[in-house]
Amino acid sequence: MRVALTGATGFLGLRLVRQLLRQHDSLTVLVRAGSGCGLRRIARFMKLSGTPASLIADLPRRLRVVEIDLCQPELGLSGGAFRRLADELDVIWHCAGNINLDDDLGCLRRTRATAMVSIVLPGLTGTRSESLADYARQVSLTSHVRRVDTATGSYAGGRRFAPPVPSSARFSGAHGQWLSVVTDAEPFSVEGGELVHALRAVRAPVPAGGR
Ligand SMILES: NC(=O)c1ccc[n+]([C@@H]2O[C@H](COP(=O)([O-])OP(=O)(O)OC[C@H]3O[C@@H](n4cnc5c(N)ncnc54)[C@H](OP(=O)(O)O)[C@@H]3O)[C@@H](O)[C@H]2O)c1
Repeated sequence: MRVALTGATGFLGLRLVRQLLRQHDSLTVLVRAGSGCGLRRIARFMKLSGTPASLIADLPRRLRVVEIDLCQPELGLSGGAFRRLADELDVIWHCAGNINLDDDLGCLRRTRATAMVSIVLPGLTGTRSESLADYARQVSLTSHVRRVDTATGSYAGGRRFAPPVPSSARFSGAHGQWLSVVTDAEPFSVEGGELVHALRAVRAPVPAGGR
């Protein structure tokens, strides 16, 4: 199993790296771009927490470091790098986050996907997947929508950035489809209310419901 984690240099992530290395021969660590040498920071923690020297010496072989930025679309990876990374991983432990409560709200929001909205499309069957794809593209253009996951793949900024994976089958049922909309709008806020109105205004292939 190919495993990655974000926030590997943080309080939680460092402990998770140590734990995951007991279970997996290698790990991909997704560290914040420009924050210094991730490998060195992880090795320092291992040393301070009493990890045997032989294991620390083996870290460069066992840890593959990829620099990312959670605030950027596709983690700030250019070209096909995001796609290649997504294709090769089986599991991602997401431990990164901004816990500095003195930061401005916009900054805090950008490091956290704060809420999900579910849109239900009763009666829409798999044979009409093109209309579902069109709808998902339109929904992904709505203000405050970070991404849309559907049976036909994942969408952001008006385009599909990832094809469906086996778990995408959960979005499709005998009686219709549903979409998961990841948003950075607070659920109980003016923005959250505006988002719901904006989503209702997107023309759906069948009358939509949701929560
Ligand atoms: N600590 C706890 O007891 C606890 C309990 C429950 C939930 N949590 C949650 O777990 C998450 C991590 O907490 P923590 O205590 O480990 O925090 P932390 O020590 O501040 O670590 C945060 C991690 O996220 C990385 N990060 C921050 N902004 C990033 C960005 N834009 N792109 C990529 N990586 C970024 C940091 O990288 P740098 O090291 O380069 O800054 C660091 O590795 C937070 O969401 C927190 O709310 C923590």
